[in-house]
Amino acid sequence: MLCLALETSCDDTGAAVVDSSGRVLSSVVESSIDQHRAFGGVVPELAGRAHLLTVQPVVARALEEAGLHPLDPDIDLVAATAGPGLVGSLLIGLSAAKAYALAWAKPFVGVHHLDGHLFAPLLENPEVEWPLLTLLVSGGHSLLVLQRAPGDYEVLGETIDDAAGEAYDKVARWLGLSYPGGPEIDRRASHGDPHALDLPVSMVNGTLDLSFSGLKTAVVRATQRHPEVGLDDVAASFQAAVVEQLVRKVTLALERHGARGVALAGGVAANSALREALVGVGADRDIPVYLPSRAMCTDNAAMIGAAGLHRFALEGASTWELPARPTWDLVHR
Ligand code: KG4
Ligand code: ZN
Repeated sequence: MLCLALETSCDDTGAAVVDSSGRVLSSVVESSIDQHRAFGGVVPELAGRAHLLTVQPVVARALEEAGLHPLDPDIDLVAATAGPGLVGSLLIGLSAAKAYALAWAKPFVGVHHLDGHLFAPLLENPEVEWPLLTLLVSGGHSLLVLQRAPGDYEVLGETIDDAAGEAYDKVARWLGLSYPGGPEIDRRASHGDPHALDLPVSMVNGTLDLSFSGLKTAVVRATQRHPEVGLDDVAASFQAAVVEQLVRKVTLALERHGARGVALAGGVAANSALREALVGVGADRDIPVYLPSRAMCTDNAAMIGAAGLHRFALEGASTWELPARPTWDLVHR
């Protein structure tokens, strides 16, 4: 089966063609991030307008790159992210996907955005070991998920306050760095001293939940108390505390649930220190660690296509009435 997928939950307009064997025939992403930078975060109204202008050309490019006819492509299924995300952005991709499906008389399926992120490592590693523990860390979400088989989820823990990427972006803003802050902090941290500031590693009472807002406040206080500490050193200290928390929680989850592989997903999965640290966790326990490519970590439509094909095979098509869901529980679907 060939699936055209659309992703418009935040600031990236994505379209991709994926087949049911997991082959990505094309994946196009246009970002409106430049329009948001001056505001230090994504402005929903601007993101929605950008999707409206971009969605059709991005779909046309995805079809062309997949070698399909632009008006009558040989597509079997159209998938789109239905939530969670910015409602104005979701509505553009969802409505466009329904329109394509109606015009081509093909089924349509709505996809949970996190379902997509969780399928991303599977697209690039079809031979994963089950059960699989996935650390999903993005700008909007941070959770630890145990998968017994593709799409069979148990959420072991999640952030009780900010998402990991959100903490990166907020700390970057405090330090006067540009948005999004993750890549810039990552780059600066590689030149800095991770022990320059003494920052707390939140353990949330020994649960598998995560927490980042206390760390963000601690960075603000520590930099006020020690104005002599340079930006690179602050970035390195902050990043070390984030990675330490994530590594401890992954280790704890492996001890308690005995997964046979670890996968990383979401935008923060592009972080170099986190990738290196998780490879170390896998080596210590002699289990494989699956690290998606950078393009597969951040928002893209190929992952939505993979999740959409899976959902369609299990549950069939969504109804045309399926609404955009700004908030949507991953497990209680
Ligand atoms: O998954 P994503 O593209 O969008 C969401 O669904 O949220 O993730 C974006 C987030 C941003 O917060 C960004 O700062 C963070 O991922 N990010 C990084 C890195 N690259 C992107 N965080 C840490 N290190 C990076 N290298
Ligand atoms: Zn995302």
